[in-house]
Amino acid sequence: MYLGIDLGTSGIKALLIDGKQRITASASASLNVSRPHSGWSEQNPAHWIDALETVLDVMKSTFPARLAAVRGIGLSGQMHGATLLDSSGKVLRPCILWNDTRAYKEAAALDADPRFRKITGNIVFPGFTAPKLLWVKNNEPEVFGRVARVLLPKDYLRFWLTGEYVSDMSDSAGTSWLDVEERRWSPELLAATDLDESHMPSLVEGTEISAVLKPELARRWGLREDVVVAGGGGDNAASACGMGTVSPGHAFISLGTSGVLFAANGAYMPNPASAVHTFCHALPKTWHQMGVILSATDALNWYAGIARSDPANLTAELGDRLKAPSGVTFLPYLSGERTPHNDATIRGAFVGLGRESDRAALTQAVVEGVAFAFRDCLEALAAAGTRLDRVTGVGGGSRSDYWLKAIATALDLAVDVPADGDFGGAFGAARLGLIAAEKADPWEVCTLPAIAETIEPEARLRGAFEDAYARYRALYPALRN
Ligand code: XUL
Repeated sequence: MYLGIDLGTSGIKALLIDGKQRITASASASLNVSRPHSGWSEQNPAHWIDALETVLDVMKSTFPARLAAVRGIGLSGQMHGATLLDSSGKVLRPCILWNDTRAYKEAAALDADPRFRKITGNIVFPGFTAPKLLWVKNNEPEVFGRVARVLLPKDYLRFWLTGEYVSDMSDSAGTSWLDVEERRWSPELLAATDLDESHMPSLVEGTEISAVLKPELARRWGLREDVVVAGGGGDNAASACGMGTVSPGHAFISLGTSGVLFAANGAYMPNPASAVHTFCHALPKTWHQMGVILSATDALNWYAGIARSDPANLTAELGDRLKAPSGVTFLPYLSGERTPHNDATIRGAFVGLGRESDRAALTQAVVEGVAFAFRDCLEALAAAGTRLDRVTGVGGGSRSDYWLKAIATALDLAVDVPADGDFGGAFGAARLGLIAAEKADPWEVCTLPAIAETIEPEARLRGAFEDAYARYRALYPALRN
């Protein structure tokens, strides 16, 4: 058995797979986000540990024999968060999460230093880790003075599980301190935020062994004493391992709260100017590109709240047949945007409303607006040298066929819908645990899922979608101004 643990923003999920990669048990526990000020988003790491203890207790009480057979653990987690520890390993303040935008001025200041884009291959986004440390230095100097170690969220779980400070390449690539091509910390970039390598965990590949479980924890949950913990990955790279998105030409589109268009690359291919993310993958000598939009299903959830309905009802009202865009355009920038605008302060809009614009017309505009935001990501990936002809569609929003048809047509790509399975970080993390424990070939383990159906772009509407995309593109600069 192999145990995958994903530390998400809204909860922790753990699942067990056997040697044939069948899921044999799972458990989850929810987490809250605290937003003490506008733009802030924090979690107390002690709550992560409580949730982890809860899921392991549940597994022990329901499947003790399966837990006792675990040989490897893999970790996946929400990326970019700054977990600050003092020299005794004590947490100094709540973790500042990936979707916290308070450090936008610090991010702009670091991004203006050309070394950051050159060495990391990425824009310094406000959500990334380095600007958060600069914010702490500027606003909480006494906390900054006591920082002995900076850990990403899943690496704090690893520290609690093993007592070791270790991270993996894929998650570390989102800090703005990693030399992403060379896969090592950059002393120069650390120094630019008054830190050095002693503040950082050591680095392994996601597929390698990072440490061994503490004996007292092994006894507590009836686990073997020699259980190894794999490097694991940031949640997107770990999910990609679960979906077999590990070789050039493979890509997925994820319609979660935020949206991700993720492509695997066999080489380091940065293009910060297009606001694409270029990170190490969780597999050795592999990288990936990713466009991230901050409001995907979140946009429809928001509109459903106003329309006093729920997202599934709203998309059902659109019927089965894809319609031509109506002339109402929605920009989904409810929480600002990363790709392609890197703009924490932009906000969304409905444009082109008329007396005839009813609830369904607005639903249609929201669905199309998110599709066009993904089209922007596709263009950003193309500008960074990645061409795709199909993607795998996952996430809550992919349950709407209408939404997938709009995406396929807006992106002019076939969207493959997997048969039932688990496509979150926990399954990919379990695969990484298996690879590390058995020294297995990562590409043999990380296979593609069975596909239930393929949604093709609708040729009859391509022209209408292109025209609507051109209107969408023209609106961001107009709003900005
Ligand atoms: C990736 C990102 C998000 C978080 C979500 O850059 O910020 O996908 O990892 O957990």
